[in-house]
Amino acid sequence: MAKVGMKKLCLVLLVAYFNLWQETNAMDLAEIKERTVEVNGIKMNIVEKGDEGPVVLFLHGFPELWYSWRHQMVALSSLGYRAVAPDLRGYGDTEAPPAIANYTAFDIAGDIVSLIESLGVGQVYLVGHDWGSIIGWYLCLFRPELVKAYVSLSVPYLHRDPQVRPVDGLCALYGPNYYICRFQKPGEMEAQMAAVGTPYVIRNILTSRETGPPILPEGEYGTGFNPNMSRTLPSWLTQDDLNYYVSKFEKTGFTPALNYYRNLNSNWELTAPWSGGKIQTPVMFITGELDSVYTTSYFREYIDSGDFKEDVPNLKQIIVQKGVAHFNNQEAADEVSDYIYHFITQF
Ligand SMILES: *[C@@H]1O[C@H](CO)[C@@H](O)[C@H](O)[C@H]1NC(C)=O
Ligand SMILES: *[C@@H]1O[C@H](CO)[C@@H](O)[C@H](O)[C@H]1NC(C)=O
Repeated sequence: MAKVGMKKLCLVLLVAYFNLWQETNAMDLAEIKERTVEVNGIKMNIVEKGDEGPVVLFLHGFPELWYSWRHQMVALSSLGYRAVAPDLRGYGDTEAPPAIANYTAFDIAGDIVSLIESLGVGQVYLVGHDWGSIIGWYLCLFRPELVKAYVSLSVPYLHRDPQVRPVDGLCALYGPNYYICRFQKPGEMEAQMAAVGTPYVIRNILTSRETGPPILPEGEYGTGFNPNMSRTLPSWLTQDDLNYYVSKFEKTGFTPALNYYRNLNSNWELTAPWSGGKIQTPVMFITGELDSVYTTSYFREYIDSGDFKEDVPNLKQIIVQKGVAHFNNQEAADEVSDYIYHFITQF
């Protein structure tokens, strides 16, 4: 009796697993609902999967789109959640206001606050990667009541040092060719990216496995996060995936995305009232062993020492994925989905 029950259970699990596997490996984009919402004075493109259940809101990074979360959206919606991912301000099919000053932390966090309201929910589970992770930290700081639990990928909380403006600090630490320093001057990096072409830029950055601080040599091919770009694509990134990113960035250009970096010092000025503020939200942090942020000195020490945990007292878990680089939500997609699911079910 028990044996038969067990067999049945195994079969059900196997079928469920196979369905999930099939779905994530051949995602039908048509099954995803894409629509425009008015938030914070702009038209924002959002993508949803799953009509019911608590909202899991996914914020992408640079140079990405909602599309970076395609695997997690399928996985979490199949587990009873309503997965939602926007193209952030300036990206993809979301409006891109023209001024650098339109891309401060207040503008972008304001978009997300307004988006949460428009979804008709009081709280969300939040997941952010790279710049999306930075925005996630700001949301937890500004509007903690909106975030039930936060899964941060790649970029840890960086507490505000009242003595040093961040761009000045980073350029002093890693030199003037550190990518964030090279992104500062309006128009300069855009021109270099235009010279090598959007397909090259996207492919180079997404497939990079270089560790340590990204240094872009001035005067050479200055977009080269990765001087050793391989001819073959990794198994987790298809030519179709790349084409999707390229088609969107060819329309928007890179200026809006670079404008986020051009506001790092302004954000520091604007957030003076939160200096010394701690993040009280329950948090899980996931990075890759080869992530270019994690392998940069200072960031690594901050994460591995108790400093990160001191700023984020409810930091429940830090996961360092073996052999995985910066785009861990795409490279180790199923593992990241599992971590998210097992973490958020606790809250
Ligand atoms: C962009 O910035 C300008 C100048 O500060 C401002 O007037 C405008 O409202 C901003 N637009 C958006 C959509 O944030
Ligand atoms: C990339 O190429 C440079 C120059 O040829 C070399 O010095 C470096 O070790 C390479 N990095 C990797 C990760 O292979």
